[in-house]
Amino acid sequence: MIERSNFILNKKITVQAPATVANLVCGFDVLGLCLEAPYDTMDVTLNNSGIVTLKSSDGYPLPTDPVLNTAGAPLLEMMAEINMEIGFDVVITKNIKPGSGLGSSAASAAGAVVAANYLLGGVFSKSELVRFAMSGEKVASGVKHADNVAPCIYGGITLIRSIFPLDIVSIAAPSLYVTVVHPQIEVKTADARQILRKEVLLKDAIRQWGNIAGLVAGFLQNDLDLVGRSLEDVIIEPVRSILIPEFNKVKAQSKLAGALGGGISGSGPSIFMLSKTMQTAKEVEVTMREIYTAIELPFYTYVTTISNEGIKILSS
Ligand code: HSE
Repeated sequence: MIERSNFILNKKITVQAPATVANLVCGFDVLGLCLEAPYDTMDVTLNNSGIVTLKSSDGYPLPTDPVLNTAGAPLLEMMAEINMEIGFDVVITKNIKPGSGLGSSAASAAGAVVAANYLLGGVFSKSELVRFAMSGEKVASGVKHADNVAPCIYGGITLIRSIFPLDIVSIAAPSLYVTVVHPQIEVKTADARQILRKEVLLKDAIRQWGNIAGLVAGFLQNDLDLVGRSLEDVIIEPVRSILIPEFNKVKAQSKLAGALGGGISGSGPSIFMLSKTMQTAKEVEVTMREIYTAIELPFYTYVTTISNEGIKILSS
């Protein structure tokens, strides 16, 4: 129950909402992990205006109608559940590019609801925040999925056993290093979902759920070779990888450079690779850079780790 004594009007906080890797190769829509970097920064102010205003700090074009904005829609849903006249002003500094496959829309959605909940005295649970944030994903891709917003809000690695009703399981994240390459093409999640086959062969389903179970067991038992063997996707990757230049080469050469394995980050075009050591993760980065430099396709790379904290509240 929210009471006025729980919050202070016109209070502002700043949060960092990190990038996430959804699917983790074999776990389409059910697995995701939270990265330390890159991240968006959001300033959120609570007021009694009854509306949500949205601005970009750097002129980045954002839909300013909250209904159409990935941060705005979850806040409107949250406000509808609070029997009180409140509103929010949101200023976003985006570092995670939309259409990168790194959970850009999720960072905006999750960052907004975590900040709003903090300003309201923490009345909503993490699971309720995921429920609100999923409406931002619906704005972005037409579908509610939680494999970016859940790891962003919970931190670490999350398994989304079900979204209706929500059933989220946090999985202890082993110490792993993550290399990401983002070739500078845009892949819209909605398009990348549209091209998927609607039916799968039983033999492929068996292989896929063997891999999902292997991956989860590998994380829990800290069996990194099992993690590597389980990073295989026989259903989604064969279709989506066609959209990503040099995908097969990046994957093969990264493994030769020592990566445990990896694949498409979310719906792409970013590709992520997991490694046991920082040194290997950096060697994988060099390999990725060489491949995209050779075809003169601009790219960004990141070498980072798994964030167990998720969204960080910076100042209040
Ligand atoms: N599971 C979603 C998809 C993640 O692959 O479409 C999108 O970031």
